[in-house]
Amino acid sequence: MTDRYCVFGNPVAHSRSPAIHAMFAAQCRQDLSYEAILAPLDGFAAALAGFAAAGGKGANVTLPFKEEAFALCTRRSARAERAGAVNTLAFTGSWIFGDNTDGAGLVQDIEVNLQFPLAGRRLLLLGAGGAARGVIAPLLERRPAGLFIANRTAEKAEALAGQFCELAAVDAGNLGKIAGRTFDVVINATSASLSGATLPLPAGIFAPGGLAYDMMYGKGETPFMALAREQGAGHLADGLGMLVEQAAEAFLVWRGVRPDSAPVLAEMRERLAA
Ligand code: ATR
Repeated sequence: MTDRYCVFGNPVAHSRSPAIHAMFAAQCRQDLSYEAILAPLDGFAAALAGFAAAGGKGANVTLPFKEEAFALCTRRSARAERAGAVNTLAFTGSWIFGDNTDGAGLVQDIEVNLQFPLAGRRLLLLGAGGAARGVIAPLLERRPAGLFIANRTAEKAEALAGQFCELAAVDAGNLGKIAGRTFDVVINATSASLSGATLPLPAGIFAPGGLAYDMMYGKGETPFMALAREQGAGHLADGLGMLVEQAAEAFLVWRGVRPDSAPVLAEMRERLAA
């Protein structure tokens, strides 16, 4: 019997996860299928239960269901607890195990693929929504010199910083508060570009040779990458690597083997450019 997996989202038709997991499965010679399932906005729990009852072994969860998935789990990993959201589910009997591989995927992409060690670096995280929250603890575990969370709405950044301050010194404020500061790694976790907005970043925040990392990706340079390049960021990256790495980490959770992500990332990069 072929083991079934899927990704739940709404919308989900654009998801690249089925292609990524098909490549992982072929590479690791694993007999599994992986499909994209559109769950109704008010029907995620039922869709999940239906998939598990039909023999599904596990699932990824994308927007807007990551918090709801967290609530539905009977058991969660420590990193899922810290993130307050779940992107990976595994079903065993009536148990639903929840994990969050987003932060690990981001760190793997920055440190291994991009060869940019985070220890001792000054980090700036832009945004204070679910995407930002999920990566804070994994970033702090790399022992950066500091982390500043900057958000359009300062209160949300301050609340997040308060939740993670026992792990390390975390500063927070609105985007204006980073004026006059310099960062080695700037990560965009906002959804500003989805509405065509440009982030009002103060000039001079990118250290020479620093990295500007956008969790978003698309064909060519993202709006945040273009802005960062204009402002002198030395290295630019989009979030395609994070996407592939969080998938590799989920594959490890399900199948006990971590696929070689490099050829899959290269293939996905080619497809994105086509
Ligand atoms: P996600 O789960 O993708 O993080 P979210 O929880 O809606 O989505 O968070 C979106 C983030 O992008 C927030 O930090 C939001 O800022 P606010 O907290 O002030 O709303 C940020 N964001 C969205 N549009 C933005 C814009 N035009 N300018 C600056 N920040 C923006």
